[in-house]
Amino acid sequence: MAAIQEAAALIRAGGIVAIPTETVYGLAADARDSAAVARIYAAKGRPSFNPLIVHVPDAAAAERIAVFDADARVLAAAFWPGPLTLVLPIRADAGIASLVTAGLDTVAIRVPAHRAMQALLAASEAPLAAPSANASNAISPTHAAHVAASLGANVPLIVDDGATTAGVESTIVAGRTILRHGPVTAEMLGEVLPVASGATAHVSAPGQLATHYAPRKPLRLDAVAAGHDEWLIGFGAITGDDMLSSSGDVVEAAARLFDALHRADASSRSRIAVAPVPEKGIGAAINDRLRRAATR
Ligand code: TXA
Ligand code: MG
Repeated sequence: MAAIQEAAALIRAGGIVAIPTETVYGLAADARDSAAVARIYAAKGRPSFNPLIVHVPDAAAAERIAVFDADARVLAAAFWPGPLTLVLPIRADAGIASLVTAGLDTVAIRVPAHRAMQALLAASEAPLAAPSANASNAISPTHAAHVAASLGANVPLIVDDGATTAGVESTIVAGRTILRHGPVTAEMLGEVLPVASGATAHVSAPGQLATHYAPRKPLRLDAVAAGHDEWLIGFGAITGDDMLSSSGDVVEAAARLFDALHRADASSRSRIAVAPVPEKGIGAAINDRLRRAATR
């Protein structure tokens, strides 16, 4: 399929591609490339960061990224490839960009059962981070035409392989808890493992869930210079101890945000200050995240 080769070339170049899975169309990027992942958020116009699902070709590839226990292996053996996402501890050597996990030490991972997504995983040789390929707050796309209507020129390539079959997003399981109900039902899960239903809040309000890295130190916004004992995270003309983007590029800033917060927490200073980031485009998501970090 020529479209797959074109899509793989885009992924290898750090771009984003819309591609069907068995659940919904996803907006995919190389999960190891933080700038590419930032482009996903920018294209969706998402006002906050939410950890993304990493798609891999098989369970062996998943085990190179996440730490599996016996329960996870039971679920993977029963339902992969298929519409089941497992939330597992991330391996130290996983190589996944921190924007994918929103800085968490866990990763959501799945092996999709769809020929187009599987072909792209093989051709790009990359783990693919992919949320649903719709603009923020729009409904998830089950046809290529939905993607085009929702994202339009924000996505350079839509691989059209017809309607998706499941039509709703994958079931998410963490440990023995269902975090999001989906095509792999509680009954189906129950046949192989005793599972309980957990919070479903993040289905309706994804950004509201506390699934983000939260800095331990107090954080001050809109700083133009470092105060006493502060670690300044700079942007554009405001030079700090660390920089989100020297050139004032909000996509680059998004890509660097969670790593910068980790570095600030690990620094020798007791407080964190962050230079103002413009509210334009993905800057809204950066500021949403920073405001949450500042008010906790
Ligand atoms: O079917 C699907 O899962 C589709 C296709 C494209 O694969 N993808 C999808 O992604 O629905 P998205 O971004 O819309 O949903 C990802 C969900 C979010 O609710 C997020 O909070 C949760 O997964 N999630 C991701 N990483 C997590 C983690 N480490 N811990 C807890 N929840 C996590
Ligand atoms: Mg979604």
